[in-house]
Amino acid sequence: MRSHYCGELTAKNISEVVTLCGWVHRRRDHGGVIFLDLRDREGVTQVVFDPDRAESFALADSCRSEFVVQVKGLVRARPEGTVNPNMNTGEIEILGHEIEILNRAATPPFQLDEHQAVGEDIRLKNRFLDLRRPEIQQKLRLRSKVTSILRSYLDDNGFLDIETPILTRATPEGARDYLVPSRTHQGSFFALPQSPQLFKQLLMVSGFDRYYQIAKCFRDEDLRADRQPEFTQIDLETSFLGQEEIMSLTEGMISNLFKEVKDVDLGAFPRMPFSEAMEKYGSDKPDLRIPLTIETVSDLMTEVDFKVFSGPAKDANGRVAALKVPGGNSLTRKQIDEYTKFVGIYGAKGLAYIKVNNKADLEEGLQSPIVKFLPVEVRQALLDRVEAQDGDLIFFGADQTNVVNEALGALRCKLGADLDLYTCEWAPLWVVDFPMFEQTSDGGITAIHHPFTAPSCSPEDLKANPLTALSQAYDMVLNGTELGGGSIRIHQSEMQETVFGLLNISAEEQEEKFGFLLDALKFGAPPHGGLAFGLDRLVMLMTGSASIRDVIAFPKTQSATCLLTQAPGEVSEKQLKELSIRVRKPVTE
Ligand code: AMO
Ligand code: AMP
Repeated sequence: MRSHYCGELTAKNISEVVTLCGWVHRRRDHGGVIFLDLRDREGVTQVVFDPDRAESFALADSCRSEFVVQVKGLVRARPEGTVNPNMNTGEIEILGHEIEILNRAATPPFQLDEHQAVGEDIRLKNRFLDLRRPEIQQKLRLRSKVTSILRSYLDDNGFLDIETPILTRATPEGARDYLVPSRTHQGSFFALPQSPQLFKQLLMVSGFDRYYQIAKCFRDEDLRADRQPEFTQIDLETSFLGQEEIMSLTEGMISNLFKEVKDVDLGAFPRMPFSEAMEKYGSDKPDLRIPLTIETVSDLMTEVDFKVFSGPAKDANGRVAALKVPGGNSLTRKQIDEYTKFVGIYGAKGLAYIKVNNKADLEEGLQSPIVKFLPVEVRQALLDRVEAQDGDLIFFGADQTNVVNEALGALRCKLGADLDLYTCEWAPLWVVDFPMFEQTSDGGITAIHHPFTAPSCSPEDLKANPLTALSQAYDMVLNGTELGGGSIRIHQSEMQETVFGLLNISAEEQEEKFGFLLDALKFGAPPHGGLAFGLDRLVMLMTGSASIRDVIAFPKTQSATCLLTQAPGEVSEKQLKELSIRVRKPVTE
């Protein structure tokens, strides 16, 4: 039906007669001449209709936004002064000879170039229109390019693309499962996979050596800008490779991707132990574009006459820490109040600060609501510790260590964004040496990665010191986002049973839920390990999007619904009956 895409015509095509198909992006009536901006996936071209050709002129005149048309016409140079250097096709226009309206369109609920004003709900409800926006088309095209490049990298490195089931049993990754009732086994349920974790390990036991999959994963968890209930992983697993080899292979994959797609050289990724990340950045995914660091000052505060500080300073689970903002003493009272409110989200009970106006004058040169509680020697030691200069501001967090880390970690990122402190565009790193477990609020322990991750010690040492044991897990972080994570796996059933036992999973439950894995580990499981990247997050970062919703064709809302299809929806009585399900609706007033 067409000879060219709208967006590909340039001065080279002048004098050619072309046929284009597309949507009417805009129609303008310029005193007796009709301009149609015609759009397809490659871009927009301006078509002009003169009254000389009365029939096509009238048809063009009757066109409205988003009509689908076919146009035949002559490519000509735009008249002097009307060249648009911002458009690919800005040097030319089409003199329309013939036009056929292939389909009409009702008035769209929003103009594509005014999408921001209508709000995301309306856009998601009409996603088929929203997806016509060139900006979002670019993002999805880049996504397609990314998967294509990653596939060739993995193919070139001997990986086999193998599919794993969607209807399966629980695969614990720390979220709730999405369940699917079985009709043929009433009262039983499938779980959608939170990841292909167990299957990819079984593929290693089966000898496939290198597996990958662009895999859909399902997790019923609290949603945020970088989390969807249904998302995509670049999932991979290898046999007979150690942690270093897996990290170097996948670092190569991401570096190669950035080079090919963005012509960016990411350089060698630094490595940072988990403990250092938490201590200096208050986060296991530090944004290293921001030069601020968090300094422990607990040791200086144990004897001060300010309980808010001395309490946590003396508590083994407490922390007093400082975050210095160079040049920050120009922050206003109002801004500081807003930051105080901000850290409150993370449980901080306040946000003490010191403005360093003149560090030589420890009596008058420090402006602060708390400095009166600090003896002069402490003031001096503090300024030395954070290497304060005149003009700086120092924020403080004092509380349980995890509250201080979360609050100051988040504040650090917010200050980086608000004050535009970024020192570079891309800051990748590996976070390594994660602990195996962390304590839960009910006194139990839970796996930091997943329960199949190998510890760095023997089963005996693990049993003796579960909370201090480290794991062979590694996360790739880019600009403060966890892009991917993986580990060396447990490949011996004794170790796997030890870990399940520490996680308080009884022998019966182990057999019931993971019997197949424990069996597989008994039949010649090779040493193996792997990693999974979040494709949506990767594309979000590469396209500079604020949310992964912007890089998913049909995303769900923050409350895990699809506004387009109205999913999840009710089902018929008949379907429920077939499944032997009776719905108990929550009682509403
Ligand atoms: P993990 O749970 O760390 O590891 O997931 C790997 C990566 O997947 C992405 N991701 C998400 N993206 C969008 N929405 C979500 N809800 C979401 N959850 C996770 C992140 C994350 O780094 N089986 C292990 C991997 C392994 O050990 O090989 C796993 O799933 O980018
Ligand atoms: P207050 O004694 O409550 O008036 O607090 C004095 C200063 O300490 C104020 O600037 C508070 O914001 C700050 N502050 C209070 N609690 C904490 C805390 N847990 N961590 C850091 N600063 C705090």
